[in-house]
Amino acid sequence: MLKEVHYKNWKSFSNATLYIDPLTVLIGTNASGKSNALDGIAFLSRVVQGKELQTILSGDSALLLEANIQAIRGGVEWAAKHPHSSFILEVVIEGDEETDYHYSIEVSTKSDVELVSESLVKIDRKMNKRTKLFTATAEEDRARRLLLQFIMEDAQKRNRSNVLYRLLAN
Ligand SMILES: Nc1ncnc2c1ncn2[C@@H]1O[C@H](COP(=O)(O)OP(=O)(O)OP(=O)(O)O)[C@@H](O)[C@H]1O
Ligand SMILES: [Mg+2]
Repeated sequence: MLKEVHYKNWKSFSNATLYIDPLTVLIGTNASGKSNALDGIAFLSRVVQGKELQTILSGDSALLLEANIQAIRGGVEWAAKHPHSSFILEVVIEGDEETDYHYSIEVSTKSDVELVSESLVKIDRKMNKRTKLFTATAEEDRARRLLLQFIMEDAQKRNRSNVLYRLLAN
């Protein structure tokens, strides 16, 4: 399951962590960032579906009916915390009793929406060992393909629906 989400210069957050339990309740006054936190998760779930970063943030009206690609609230303009022009989102996902995965993506929203860097690290909690599964800089398509490939293989191998798989399927 999804264990942690880290937000760096994402919307109203400079540097924040959301810890997730099986039941997690977000409480806060208006404009305290509840929806911004969920928008970050929505962004990530579309990333692992292999959608283009620009399309994820700004939506795609031509495909709206067919693929239901709605813009992330606020679009490109409000994705990075003002006045910054890039953001980082990271997730920690529990694979099984011994394994976590750490996924990180940095995106620039300056002129075009561009991938700055992306990485996926496997963490063996028992052995306290980190294995880089991939890192990529501005090789968007390749990295995304590798990530999808990894998620599919991993889900098949385990023959059960872990969160990586569910993120992909939703
Ligand atoms: N890119 C950004 N830079 C700075 N602030 C931002 C950015 N994007 C959103 N905000 C701020 O985030 C706040 C809105 O947060 P959010 O919509 O998450 O609130 P909420 O907790 O869901 O509130 P409500 O209970 O009204 O739904 C606003 O004050 C808005 O100005
Ligand atoms: Mg809200």
